Amino acid sequence: MKTQLLPANEAGLSAAAAALSSGALVGIPTETVYGLAANGLNPQAVAAIFAAKNRPADNPLIQHVADIEGGLALFAHASALARRLMEAFWPGPFTLVLPAAPHVPEIARAGLSTVAVRCPDHSWTRRLIARCGFPLAAPSANLSGRPSPTTAQAVLADMDGRIPLVIDGGPCSVGVESTVVTLRGDQIILLRPGGITPEHLCAITDDVIIDSGVCAPHDGAAPAASPGMTHRHYAPLAQVVLYTGADSALPSRIGADYDALAQSGARPVILSGEANGCGSRHHLYAGGTAEEYAQRLFGLLRRADELGYSHILAPLPAKNGVSLALANRLLRAADFNLVTVKEDD
Ligand code: TXA
Ligand code: MG
Repeated sequence: MKTQLLPANEAGLSAAAAALSSGALVGIPTETVYGLAANGLNPQAVAAIFAAKNRPADNPLIQHVADIEGGLALFAHASALARRLMEAFWPGPFTLVLPAAPHVPEIARAGLSTVAVRCPDHSWTRRLIARCGFPLAAPSANLSGRPSPTTAQAVLADMDGRIPLVIDGGPCSVGVESTVVTLRGDQIILLRPGGITPEHLCAITDDVIIDSGVCAPHDGAAPAASPGMTHRHYAPLAQVVLYTGADSALPSRIGADYDALAQSGARPVILSGEANGCGSRHHLYAGGTAEEYAQRLFGLLRRADELGYSHILAPLPAKNGVSLALANRLLRAADFNLVTVKEDD
């Protein structure tokens, strides 16, 4: 199959709507990461998503809608709190998991009784959904286990020849996947951190719980609240090592580990927001703010692989604001390989 790349304009809109209406898959831009979209109400089209990504069948998909009304149509019911959250954060990087309306195909929900829904903050994509007249089921448009794509070129790197069409809407403005929450009565449970932060959620209600799977590996005893969080994720080919502990001692410990790796013939690189603190050591600059780091993160992980690095050494980002999403993604990329550095190390 030849994969066509079209710009996010009127012609692209018509081509994407026609392909999706015929049951085909299309790579689409959103403000978070690129999605691999299909008609979310067509079980065969949804099955094709799982096949194209090699995605495990037990990992449910997010349904993308054009507005709150479209979201309400997919939920069996929505409480006052659910409505307040949709009004506050849609369109935006925010996914709400609630009991599903009966017409949401089981395959898209991976057999769960709930459905995940979000309204992306990308005007071309919302126009596409409105034009289609059905919600778009769309996971991130990477092969399962690879970093999510934040440019159309990164979608092509994984999906060329597997899908007929990718729409180029430029680089994603947020850069990490949406925040996923569910509700337990009047309590918000944060399942996956993203551009909508715990602080944003606390402005709606102070009853916000961060699921234990956000910054720790799933222990396998209880069923995971969000199946996607148990799969190995966001993994570059390079081995990622994270450092936490005494801030003042981190740079010298990372430098020492880098030098030891380099001397043993490995090809390490440091990933950090330090503009010029690494001397002659190879360095990937993550930007000065957590927002910039989020925009760059997945591109940098892909770049590290393209450049053939064997190890990525990085300070663990703080667990607040958008930085919590960085910590969550990097901990998974590192398979929870975390070095704790003491003051006198
Ligand atoms: O920003 C995003 O959310 C991107 C763009 C394309 O919208 N999409 C995305 O999809 O990240 P995906 O499939 O890579 O991640 C969906 C996450 C997974 O962790 C999945 O387990 C969780 O949402 N999820 C989906 N349905 C769920 C449900 N019913 N209950 C709990 N978690 C669910
Ligand atoms: Mg994904």
